[in-house]
Amino acid sequence: MKIMVVGGGGREHAIIKKIKENPSVEKIYALPGNGGMSGDAELVNIGAKDIDSIVKFAVDNSIDFAVVAPDDPLVLGAVDALNEVGIKCFGPNKAAAIIEGSKAFSKNLMKKYNIPTAEFEIFDNAEAALSYLDTAPIPTVIKADGLALGKGVIIAETREAAKDAVKSIMEEKIFGDSGNNIVIEEFLTGPEVSVLSFTDGNVVVPMISSMDHKRALDNDKGLNTGGMGTIAPNPYYTADIAKECMDKIFIPTINAMKAENRTFKGCLYFGLMLTPKGPKVIEYNCRFGDPETQVVLPLLESDLLDIMIAVADGCLTENMVKFSQKSACCVVMASNGYPVKYESGFEITVDSDFDDNLYVAGAKLSGDKLLTAGGRVLGVTAVENTLGEAINKAYSSVKKVRFANAFYRNDIGAKAMSVIKEEK
Ligand code: AMP
Ligand code: GLY
Repeated sequence: MKIMVVGGGGREHAIIKKIKENPSVEKIYALPGNGGMSGDAELVNIGAKDIDSIVKFAVDNSIDFAVVAPDDPLVLGAVDALNEVGIKCFGPNKAAAIIEGSKAFSKNLMKKYNIPTAEFEIFDNAEAALSYLDTAPIPTVIKADGLALGKGVIIAETREAAKDAVKSIMEEKIFGDSGNNIVIEEFLTGPEVSVLSFTDGNVVVPMISSMDHKRALDNDKGLNTGGMGTIAPNPYYTADIAKECMDKIFIPTINAMKAENRTFKGCLYFGLMLTPKGPKVIEYNCRFGDPETQVVLPLLESDLLDIMIAVADGCLTENMVKFSQKSACCVVMASNGYPVKYESGFEITVDSDFDDNLYVAGAKLSGDKLLTAGGRVLGVTAVENTLGEAINKAYSSVKKVRFANAFYRNDIGAKAMSVIKEEK
């Protein structure tokens, strides 16, 4: 089979490496991919948002199956466009991708179908939002309605900060048109859990749970990033909580989307907060998480491509998806200064005794050298019998990957380890 993967980061690299395990795969193209994946896929210089060129490439190259991984092309309708020319895809169509594309949509969906989430109000003009904030409970959370590279959420500790956030999103348009509407919601507390799931629109099969580390610096200090590391499974997510989430969140969400004529097929990502009043949805993503995928897929024992095809064909079953009992830790190596200002173009070298998973997010080839070309450069994932071992192994492997100005957090998994120790 000829496979095409749309996207170019560490998540896509993890997807490509897993798909490659299927013996019927002859060739994988990455659009655009990045230089660090050139050993695993043929890179095609087409941007992930260039839907017309993606469709043309797929037709010209007789692609048998496409995986659309990032949010932008999904929300823009890449799957609809590929399906129209007869190309089978993994990923939701445009009507379903709105679950991530519009927070106002997803909040209203949860309200209508009684799916637990933070209390909220939606505003389409700054004046009404500002006057609501005169009496709203503080702290409060302000969210731009549309996609904002994961940056469209502001947690305001004071009334003034909340009002400033509304002004910058709705008047100064710091997130562009994504801020035409905003959601103002209740501030929740509790541990966060990411649960990715496979769903064909009828059956939903959760993957192993994971924990992201979004802040740039140790001890959750510094700015929010795209994710500085992950571990799986997430020790806060017990079997009882998993059952509650299945009954109150996962199945109701799949059924709600079907009832709205927006049947969701693909990977639905549940961003959950385990509050004192039970698990609540913080966000839905219409795709695999990054860097969650880099710990979840190495633990998948089943064949990823077979699952993806079953999702597309609407014949997913629970027993198709099996996870290992092991644990995984991914440490992201970034360019110093990320997420604000950083330099690129430094050579990346990997010691010959490196024996873990390397998922490259931001690199380019220059002759036979691999150079850094992004804020998050790569992720190193180790899989071991216990989480403690996986963390130690990931950090010893990180030392075998070298580039100038590299920086990474030193405490990925530390919070999870403290929970595991408390339980003992
Ligand atoms: P999101 O982009 O929706 O994932 O939000 C980014 C981060 O903001 C989340 O991972 C949470 O840590 C935090 N957050 C979002 N919504 C809330 C909320 N209602 N209460 C507390 N924290 C929140
Ligand atoms: N790691 C969070 C996300 O993919 O949105």
